Amino acid sequence: MPTDQQPDSWVLHTENTTYAVGLNAAGQLVTRYWGRRLDRVEDIPPAQDLGRWASFSDRGTLNQLEYPAYAGPNYVEPALKITQPDGVRDTVLKFESADCEEGLLEVVFRDVHYPLKVSINYWAHFGFDLIERWVEVRNEGDEPMVIERAYSAVWNVPRGPQYRLRHLTGKWLDEWQMQSERLTPGVKLLESRRLTTSHHHNPWWSLDVDADEEHGDVWFGTLLWSGNWATRAEVTGFYATRVATGINDWDFAYRLDSGRSFETAHAWGGYTSKGYTGASHCLHDHAGEYLMPDRDRRWDHPKPVLFNSWEVSTFDVDTESQTRYAEIAADLGVELFVMDDGWFKGRTIDKAGLGDWTPDPVKFPDGLSPLAERVKALGMTFGLWIEPEMVNPDSDLYRNHPDWIIHFPTRTPSEMRDQYILNLARLDVQDYLIAELDTLLKSADIRFIKWDMNRNVSEPGWPDAPGDPREIWVEYVKGLYRVLEQLGWRHPNIVWQSCSGGGGRADYGILKYAEQIWISDNTMPTRRLPMQVNYLHAFPASTMEAWVTDMGDPIVPLSFRLHVSMFGVFGIGADITKWGDAEKDMARTAIAQYKQIRHIVHNGRVYRLQTPEGYTALNFVDYDTQHLPSEAVIFAFRTHIPDPAVPLTVYPRGLEPDRLYTLETLELPHADTGGHGFDSDLRAALDLREGVRTGAGWMYGGIPLLLGNFDSRVLRLKAVEEGNSE
Ligand code: DGJ
Repeated sequence: MPTDQQPDSWVLHTENTTYAVGLNAAGQLVTRYWGRRLDRVEDIPPAQDLGRWASFSDRGTLNQLEYPAYAGPNYVEPALKITQPDGVRDTVLKFESADCEEGLLEVVFRDVHYPLKVSINYWAHFGFDLIERWVEVRNEGDEPMVIERAYSAVWNVPRGPQYRLRHLTGKWLDEWQMQSERLTPGVKLLESRRLTTSHHHNPWWSLDVDADEEHGDVWFGTLLWSGNWATRAEVTGFYATRVATGINDWDFAYRLDSGRSFETAHAWGGYTSKGYTGASHCLHDHAGEYLMPDRDRRWDHPKPVLFNSWEVSTFDVDTESQTRYAEIAADLGVELFVMDDGWFKGRTIDKAGLGDWTPDPVKFPDGLSPLAERVKALGMTFGLWIEPEMVNPDSDLYRNHPDWIIHFPTRTPSEMRDQYILNLARLDVQDYLIAELDTLLKSADIRFIKWDMNRNVSEPGWPDAPGDPREIWVEYVKGLYRVLEQLGWRHPNIVWQSCSGGGGRADYGILKYAEQIWISDNTMPTRRLPMQVNYLHAFPASTMEAWVTDMGDPIVPLSFRLHVSMFGVFGIGADITKWGDAEKDMARTAIAQYKQIRHIVHNGRVYRLQTPEGYTALNFVDYDTQHLPSEAVIFAFRTHIPDPAVPLTVYPRGLEPDRLYTLETLELPHADTGGHGFDSDLRAALDLREGVRTGAGWMYGGIPLLLGNFDSRVLRLKAVEEGNSE
């Protein structure tokens, strides 16, 4: 009777999935199975060896290899490529040993000739249906080898179907566009070569054949890495689809000196039979449990409502002007006041100051403390913007250390936004930043840091690098993580936000250090709405900062803007000094309502709902101690259909079918609830929705809404306590 673990095959189970690998007759590590859970080991297909096809393709190309090194007649994308000291450029791996216990599997290979050890690692995250993968490569010889590609994983999906690849693309001000395309033979490359992760492509991906939000098989994954990365989705001539992913090998080399190891970025991959929503839930639940820093476990501390100064003040900040905003913000119910760019020495425009992290003596003659204390006295915490990886040529730091920037000595470094990038691969630069920022963070009661990065790399040189200068792509990111980790330890009460000109650094690597993400500088609510919904495919709402601002078409009412911000981490970036009593009243109410429902948005699960073109709706569900759905909040928006429009019925999801729930509309004062063009009888008939129904009643019967143009609704469902059904 075979057991899950044999000398040559290993099975990882999660709650609902099985991932099985094994050595085939040729000794290659191949994917045996990845999909719906199979409890009977005999049901799992054996490790296949397809041998040779004519004189053109061999088992390297034909078999579904778990981690192919470039070796022999292998023409699919390899995961590993290494050049030996004698110039030999392929890597022939032979199985040595494996260790599999408690969901952790390590399979060790060695090169048949060279002193090279390759450990392929798997970690099954049981309750989340995710497999984490990474690889360690070690030089056990005396001479240096050079790694030219070391991906984290190759994910093989079942051979045969023509898959649909979904992924997120964009650019500054236009991130989070969902792409969906059928893969055809060849390689589709998604990547970053910019040193940051994600303005243009995000490392999140999914594959399916005919899934939708609610149903169907979906394989998905992402990378825990905040620098250059590549994902190659390949369809071979032999009907196999595979996703090879890891740190980008473009311009990459890593010198593996004697005794030195290289650990790849970690990758997550998952399978669900519950459609795109199921895939989001696996990632979100796992992120909530494992990734957020302990100090800010999302269920312990609600993410504070914040005000940010950028869109109203830009660089023009001082104690007096910021206090004016702070007083109004506090009155509206804001909990965290964040001063953005412009506060430090010489920073009147973006041409100077980056690098000198001391308060500007003209704007803040007594430092930051007076403002921080004023904010505190108003009942809020104080936060600050910094951009520590950057330096303006017009700064003391650059004048003292021009050699600290990333550059090629013989080339003129390109300025973008008048700034250069400090080389965080250098230990002295890391140590300097840790010390400087530590001093800054001690100088006032600072509880939030917005960590920005406003340009991409160019001339990626590292003069005097201890290894190959192309190691900068890896050592920079590790240096950044080290700085953030050290500062996190020293300042455990600070909440960190990752920003890179909006959503340029949104990934699960940075989320280990920064629990909030600024997903875009585009705060136009109608454009923001689909961006936010798409972001939620990859990341939980508890990480997504969403501000109400003045950007965009003035026809879009404040109520709509407030509602868009309520399904993330709520913020205000609008000029609240210009708001009249009605606007303040509306915002005050929205913030109070948000505080009542934020635990559902942040701790609960998201369901993106089917709606006709022109509408967007989603709901979040939270659970009681029995893990039963106990509360939900529904958001519904109508964006761009001129009045009159047909009524919309929203069908929430995720409720317990037999449980009774009450429904309540969270009304905003002074809101124009639209519906122009409907006569009042129709309105009365359709807009009658409050009451008590079972989960099934609400989910399948639906909730009728009348939404006018740019109209929106927030509705709350609450389980009726036992014995209290009336
Ligand atoms: C880019 C960010 O995305 C903005 O929110 C703002 O912080 C500016 N940088 C400040 O320079």
